[in-house]
Amino acid sequence: MTSPASAGPRGAPPQVPETGLFSLADLPAETVTRLAERAVELHHDHAAHARPLVGATVGMLFTEPSTRTRTAFTVAAVRLGATPVPYGPGDLQLSTGEAVEDTGRALGSMLDGLVARTAGPLDELRRLSRHGHLPVVNAMSVEEHPTQGLCDLATLKLTLGDLDGLRLLYVGEGNSTATALALALSGVPGCEATFACPPGHGLPDAFLTTARKRAAMAGATLAHRDSAQNLPTGVDVVYTTRRRPTGTSRSDPAWRERFRPFHVDEEFMTRRPGALFLHDLPAHRGDEVTGAVLDGPRSAAWTQASMKTGSAMAVLEHALGDQTPETSEA
Ligand code: CP
Repeated sequence: MTSPASAGPRGAPPQVPETGLFSLADLPAETVTRLAERAVELHHDHAAHARPLVGATVGMLFTEPSTRTRTAFTVAAVRLGATPVPYGPGDLQLSTGEAVEDTGRALGSMLDGLVARTAGPLDELRRLSRHGHLPVVNAMSVEEHPTQGLCDLATLKLTLGDLDGLRLLYVGEGNSTATALALALSGVPGCEATFACPPGHGLPDAFLTTARKRAAMAGATLAHRDSAQNLPTGVDVVYTTRRRPTGTSRSDPAWRERFRPFHVDEEFMTRRPGALFLHDLPAHRGDEVTGAVLDGPRSAAWTQASMKTGSAMAVLEHALGDQTPETSEA
């Protein structure tokens, strides 16, 4: 995909480009759009395919908690004809210190693909892929949650239809869901997206720069604010996410105070009449959003959750569909 092929050191396997899905920034905007449209097709009809992964084995490596993504990819693999091989925290020798490169090389000789959510950086997944000649799907890294971004774009297409000129307001942390959302929206013609994040908790500059370059080509704009004051009211969608990754704590002791103004409640939604509400889940009712909004008539969060399976199927078709059931050699 993005890395050039190069010869490895003597005795080591040659370096090859990684394959799979790591970041939406690796894909042309048209491919992102096509994958979201395919996700909607598969959401409507889970059997609208020719079981392209029959005979394939797909590893599901989740060393971090996941309800939706892990289940969606496991179900998607089965529906497409593959056999999933689950790995939880502590199951692989990675957890005892085996090198990523060696793990990739071993897994690549046995599996046809790997879906992975680990605590490591995105580069680790790229190395797993390169050294194993193995397609790898990023099921959420610290930097980006690309399959969530595709799911979100698909959910918007399902619920709103034509997205040209979409106006979306994101409030909350500039986390991996936000970076993927910015990249997904950057290909929507005329889209006006505003990301409002507490000071010190915004989207990383590098992602914004990349997303804005892509947005410029589509006539879209991505604004970034570090205040909850005077946010746009004429929007089609309000989106927020959980404020803290499950099971982690924050180094910023004042984070609760910083996040408080970025809370979505009934009053926030009343000032934005007609706007749809999205949330990637899991939610913490009373923190980033009230239960009344999350479960209310304008919430599409539960449709969004159910879209995870269709979008996982679209991703597996794209990342593995033309490469299985062959396995690469160690
Ligand atoms: N939205 C999302 O990624 O959910 P899980 O963490 O449950 O997979």
